[in-house]
Amino acid sequence: MTSENLRRISSRRLDEIFSSGTGDFDEEEVYQKIPADLNINAGKAKGVVHELARNKLANSLVQAVAPLRQRNCAWVVSKLNYFLAGDKAVSSEPLSWDVPKERADLFVAYMKSDPAPQKLFPLQCPLKNLSSTSIIMATPSYELKVRLWLGLFLMGTASAQLSADYYATKCPRALSTIKAAVHKAVAAEHRMGASLLRLHFHDCFGCDASVLLNDNSTFTGEQTAGANAGSLRGFNVINNIKYRVEKVCPGIVSCADILAVAARDSVVALGGPTWDVQLGRRDSTTASLSAANSDIPSPTMDLNGLLSSFSDKGFTPKEMVALAGAHTIGQARCVVFRSRVYNESNIDASFVASLKANCPNNGEDNNLSPLDATSPVVFDNGYFKDLVSNKGLMHSDQQLFGGGSTDSQVTSYSKDSSSFFSDFSSAMIKMGNLSPLTGTNGQIRTNCRKVN
Ligand code: HEM
Repeated sequence: MTSENLRRISSRRLDEIFSSGTGDFDEEEVYQKIPADLNINAGKAKGVVHELARNKLANSLVQAVAPLRQRNCAWVVSKLNYFLAGDKAVSSEPLSWDVPKERADLFVAYMKSDPAPQKLFPLQCPLKNLSSTSIIMATPSYELKVRLWLGLFLMGTASAQLSADYYATKCPRALSTIKAAVHKAVAAEHRMGASLLRLHFHDCFGCDASVLLNDNSTFTGEQTAGANAGSLRGFNVINNIKYRVEKVCPGIVSCADILAVAARDSVVALGGPTWDVQLGRRDSTTASLSAANSDIPSPTMDLNGLLSSFSDKGFTPKEMVALAGAHTIGQARCVVFRSRVYNESNIDASFVASLKANCPNNGEDNNLSPLDATSPVVFDNGYFKDLVSNKGLMHSDQQLFGGGSTDSQVTSYSKDSSSFFSDFSSAMIKMGNLSPLTGTNGQIRTNCRKVN
């Protein structure tokens, strides 16, 4: 039997026999019974199983992050069980991968499935890196062991939490310094408020200021991603704020927190709601062009694509609609709405005519039009009023209204700005809490553009 055939058989049966999805790995069955049943050389079979196990091992943790983001605990547990089975099969192999941001959360999700203590130990090392392993290993009682685990996991989540008063004693002037600079920048150019809000959003599908990093010799940053190149603005304003904040409290306030506060202050400066920004994020030491390319929704997406892009980050359809209301301020380039203007029919006739005047069928890609034509520099519910009148500027905007599942929410926000304001604020807080770096992870960058 060729190793290719072996691989195919093992692949097919791996899920059911190798781990049964329980996290158990029955060595006798895999190394003796299966090769005997299939009449194959046990040594060769073992080699193939090891290779598959290594793949499972490598992929299962990374794959567990997707369901984690969807808050699907059962699925996380099953992925981690694959990990455990793989780990048992090739336990002598050193691990060569990492999921630094989500490690603690994965561990917590697994804890909730009430696992046996012997399953926690192999997970604890890669997921938590806790220093107290030896204490736990030395603890004889099961109950005590579980309580210690729980204590440690609670400690882990507590340190991962952000808080609104994080800088109250560490840097009392941080928030007022940011606010003053944002108000100045928005007064000089109203659109800057929109640009700062968007900068936070593009950072926040992982709020760690990675979007601010310039390319360097070890990574290509996010600024050249499709959704960002030639489009994201406000970097200088953030760098300027960072410079001022460093003067009052050197090395204390992260660029990621500055982005979050600047987004809130921008919305307020343009007449929108306020909220308590949760603080204590740290800055990344790397950036991911591929994550930026894959995670940020595109203006050509249909409703289903938009819904799944946001649900991948844990947002409900209602929260997505509220967040999209950010398009009540700011501008978009002709290149991102041209095809809607020239090819779509669910668009108001006089609106089309006015857009065509500024966005020809060819060329002038960078000509700007407001996302909310009626009140482009006021944060209000005008965007939703536009949508119910078929005056959404981009394809993705109009997808939120026009016969789909989000119509009623759009109508409701178009009639009631206070519910939009309150839902927008809550959704912004939730967005700002997406996988921040806390504790000893990351760093407080001195210059937002580069790693210390
Ligand atoms: C629903 C999915 C979304 C899509 C497809 C989308 C896409 C876009 C695009 C293509 C632009 C114009 C870029 C350009 O022409 O250079 C834009 C602008 C903008 N977006 Fe979004 N966006 C979405 C959601 C959001 C969210 C959730 C926020 C903030 C919470 C946001 C805030 C903004 C703002 C404020 C602007 C104007 C920026 C400026 O004038 O500089 N967007 N968006």
